[in-house]
Amino acid sequence: MNRREFLETSGKFAATAMFMGLGTSKIFGAANTSQMAKSIESVTLNNGIKMPILGFGTLYLDDELGISCVADAISLGYRLIDTATIYGNEEAVGGGIKRSGIDRKELFVTSKVWVDDSGYEKTKKAFQTSLDKLGTDYLDLYLIHRPRGDVHGSWKAMEELYKNGLIRAIGVSNFTAEQINDLTDNFSVKPAVNQIETHAFFQQPDNLEFLNKHNIQHEAWSPLAEGRNGYFTNETLAKIGKKYGKSNAQVALRWHYQRGIVAIPRSSQKAHRIENLNIFDFELDESNMHTIAALDLNKTQFPEWE
Ligand SMILES: NC(=O)c1ccc[n+]([C@@H]2O[C@H](COP(=O)([O-])OP(=O)(O)OC[C@H]3O[C@@H](n4cnc5c(N)ncnc54)[C@H](OP(=O)(O)O)[C@@H]3O)[C@@H](O)[C@H]2O)c1
Repeated sequence: MNRREFLETSGKFAATAMFMGLGTSKIFGAANTSQMAKSIESVTLNNGIKMPILGFGTLYLDDELGISCVADAISLGYRLIDTATIYGNEEAVGGGIKRSGIDRKELFVTSKVWVDDSGYEKTKKAFQTSLDKLGTDYLDLYLIHRPRGDVHGSWKAMEELYKNGLIRAIGVSNFTAEQINDLTDNFSVKPAVNQIETHAFFQQPDNLEFLNKHNIQHEAWSPLAEGRNGYFTNETLAKIGKKYGKSNAQVALRWHYQRGIVAIPRSSQKAHRIENLNIFDFELDESNMHTIAALDLNKTQFPEWE
């Protein structure tokens, strides 16, 4: 199933249920969580490679905490692991991957070049440093973290690394439509992904439409808004969740999924990591989707990062 087909299908809720293997995750013990890896649907990026639609974020998960959370996430069934140079935890993420014992080829590992390393030479060097810290010889996805500095120089370096087979897909993060158009106007490889802040309070419908139109995968950072603005106690989400026996976090993650958006929730707690995977045995109906759409405040919940 390619990305476009997925988006068409995910609007039809009955069909969605079919390929999510309903019921497999109702009882969520360790024994059946490893089966989740098989049931996490993938999207197909614009260069043909597959990316899990649900993954694990690692911001603030450093040192031993990072190692143990990543290893446990993998054992539970997460296959997409998101990190970045600026998180300072690539070694911990690499340690978690190693501890998990999983075959590297089963994972989808993302990292990002930070603004201090923008430009051709610095990006090449930063990429190698990321590989070394992660203990891998390739990345599945490498992103320009923010549209600052010498973006063209960075993209040129990333295109080369991509063409040389060291990165399976290249993309951007926190880019506007105009900034993406600038890249596609000037380079031969277009971004496969744009990772942007997206959650119920900042839904980004225009960006979603633009990205879908240009066959660029929308990926949500802070898909749970880090719990800000009362996300986990929001009454609207709670009322919907009650109908299905699901938490606010699960309703929110299911909502991302039904919009065709890749989400990468982070959790330092095993119970939450399990809960966040357990979103494939229910469906939000059209009226639920509209109700959640009305929660949009259309503004960032992270003004300090602007
Ligand atoms: N590209 C960018 O500029 C950018 C920016 C920000 C983030 N990111 C990426 O996106 C990932 C996710 O974003 P994020 O880490 O900022 O925030 P998030 O995933 O939206 O929220 C994480 C917070 O939610 C809590 N949580 C998780 N699951 C929960 C559940 N089921 N019930 C209750 N609480 C729950 C976690 O607490 P516990 O630990 O207690 O579970 C944690 O405090 C990051 O880790 C990072 O990889 C990228």
